[in-house]
Amino acid sequence: MSKARVMSGMRTTERIHLGNYFGALKNWVRLQDETDYECFFGAMDWHALTDAFGRANEINEVAREVIADWIAYGINPEKSVIFIQSQVPQHLEINMILSNITPFGWLDRVTTWKDAKEELQAKDAHNLGRFGYPVLQTADILAYQGTHVPVGRDQVPHLELSREIVRRFNRIYKAKLPEMEALLTEAPVLPGLDGRKMSKSYGNHIPLTESAKKVKKLCNKMLTDPKRETREDPGEPEDCQAVYKFHKLVSSAEDLSWVEEGCRSAGIGCGDCKARLAENLNKIMEEPREIKKELLNNPKNLDDIIQDGCARARKEANETLRMMRDAMGFKSFDYPGGRS
Ligand code: TRP
Ligand code: SF4
Repeated sequence: MSKARVMSGMRTTERIHLGNYFGALKNWVRLQDETDYECFFGAMDWHALTDAFGRANEINEVAREVIADWIAYGINPEKSVIFIQSQVPQHLEINMILSNITPFGWLDRVTTWKDAKEELQAKDAHNLGRFGYPVLQTADILAYQGTHVPVGRDQVPHLELSREIVRRFNRIYKAKLPEMEALLTEAPVLPGLDGRKMSKSYGNHIPLTESAKKVKKLCNKMLTDPKRETREDPGEPEDCQAVYKFHKLVSSAEDLSWVEEGCRSAGIGCGDCKARLAENLNKIMEEPREIKKELLNNPKNLDDIIQDGCARARKEANETLRMMRDAMGFKSFDYPGGRS
């Protein structure tokens, strides 16, 4: 039996925001702190390049900042292995091995490809890299022999394909690579300021280390229950487009009843409600804001942390790669400069 291992990642197309924290990162921190699983978390810059190839020069900086955000919000680089995908070349070698045993039809059926095809075509990103996205993702997980993969629902089709690829590898080469399973994060989808899903492309997001003043301003912009046209109109929190949904994620039971009663009786105004929300959000963001500032002010320190994580990752990934090549009977060799 192989060890239980958590493996996950985020593509580093954009800087991350509170939606990514509540949707994924918070759960990673919980897994790291509350289970015995060894955890591997990757900043997936090759995956970012599949459709953001035109902004290649931004992606390195985004990857560093994303990692700073992870650490600021509780990922401990001593407990968990944190790395940048492109600094672990073994991912690409495993990707190539898997590409050869993944039938074209399997990939063509993946819904994240099928549904995005036209959009991708329109922005000229209808390319082989994007088509093979789930194969590289399988390589990411296999590199660390990940068994538990915390992801959102949208990633389930990828994980199913990953399992099929692993089964095929094991069958062809009589190997025993672990079949990974999705650990579904049932986090509520955090709305953006305008009530739609929080996303940088909608411009409705709150950056993870936004200043306290700016957080207050952003809270003021959030949508409320449209029935409350004036301060005197009572409202219904369940019909509140954004503010109440945030309260449910970050506020105490006491604050929640204050909101619910005050809203329904028009005892409080939306302004009061938003101010309380801003306070509560800022309580959560205060410490991470400081930690991230420290990290970005000491680039050498952050780079050392990342380099150390990448070295640990290369060591693990190299062992898996060697094992895979042995199973295949495809000779391993060390190239000049070594692999790790
Ligand atoms: N595709 C994932 C996403 O968009 C990111 C990702 C890349 C990933 N490689 C991974 C997630 C490996 C889990 C495991 O969210
Ligand atoms: Fe939303 Fe709060 Fe206003 Fe009610 S009082 S509508 S919950 S912002």
